[in-house]
Amino acid sequence: MSETHFGFQKVDESQKAQRVRGVFDSVAARYDLMNDLMSLGLHRAWKAYAVAVANLREGDRVLDIAGGTGDLARAFAKKVGASGTVVHTDINEAMLRQGRDRLLDEGLVLPTTICDAERLPFPAGAFDLVSVAFGLRNMTHKELALAEMNRVLREGGRLLVLEFSKVAPPLEKAYDWYSFKVLPRLGRWVAGDAESYRYLAESIRMHPSQAELKAMMKAAGFGHVDVHNLNAGVVALHVGIKC
Ligand SMILES: C[S@@+](CC[C@H](N)C(=O)[O-])C[C@H]1O[C@@H](n2cnc3c(N)ncnc32)[C@H](O)[C@@H]1O
Repeated sequence: MSETHFGFQKVDESQKAQRVRGVFDSVAARYDLMNDLMSLGLHRAWKAYAVAVANLREGDRVLDIAGGTGDLARAFAKKVGASGTVVHTDINEAMLRQGRDRLLDEGLVLPTTICDAERLPFPAGAFDLVSVAFGLRNMTHKELALAEMNRVLREGGRLLVLEFSKVAPPLEKAYDWYSFKVLPRLGRWVAGDAESYRYLAESIRMHPSQAELKAMMKAAGFGHVDVHNLNAGVVALHVGIKC
């Protein structure tokens, strides 16, 4: 049996998805509030940047993977208009329900589907753009997920991966202090769950660097990949073109 990482722990591959599900089942109800608090609202700017780079047109077909509470799906839906499609997906029912309810409250009805990024239930070439924000880090077989994202894109289509990344060296100490001392405490106070936020900090450290992820995307079939560092690499947006 093969092993993988769940944060800093080594676990059997068969256990990771279940452990990740436990994290998001636990935080779903407080997810949006925690995002605002722990990023001091910056996650909104990172997502707005991804939406600007996506440069969607009316009628485009978009798949949002690991879409959770629906921030990107909502912004994309406004861009593609009534003639376009945005499919809002996630592997976790609790997260997807939070997102769907929020979108419905805002009058947006999007196709919403529970699905695993490693086995996408869509035909080849079905989408102009695929996005995954802060989701890839949690996947067990990232290469497989990236290959699936490539498969469902049309030729010339783009993949946007927005994810925590490797921060610039001068910021490392302060970032580690914030991640390992402040985040778990904030998680305990706000979401009643320190462990899930310790997992967040650890999983960021275990995630491939900007250059490593770029190489993985190229290996998955993206002929061209651009990397945009945001806030000194706290987050990076990787844009891959299927060509
Ligand atoms: C940190 S949340 C991100 C939610 C949203 N995209 C955002 O940016 O706010 C990560 C999401 O990845 C989802 N996820 C984890 N593994 C997945 C997989 N294999 N396939 C699809 N979604 C997955 C989780 O259920 C969770 O909702």
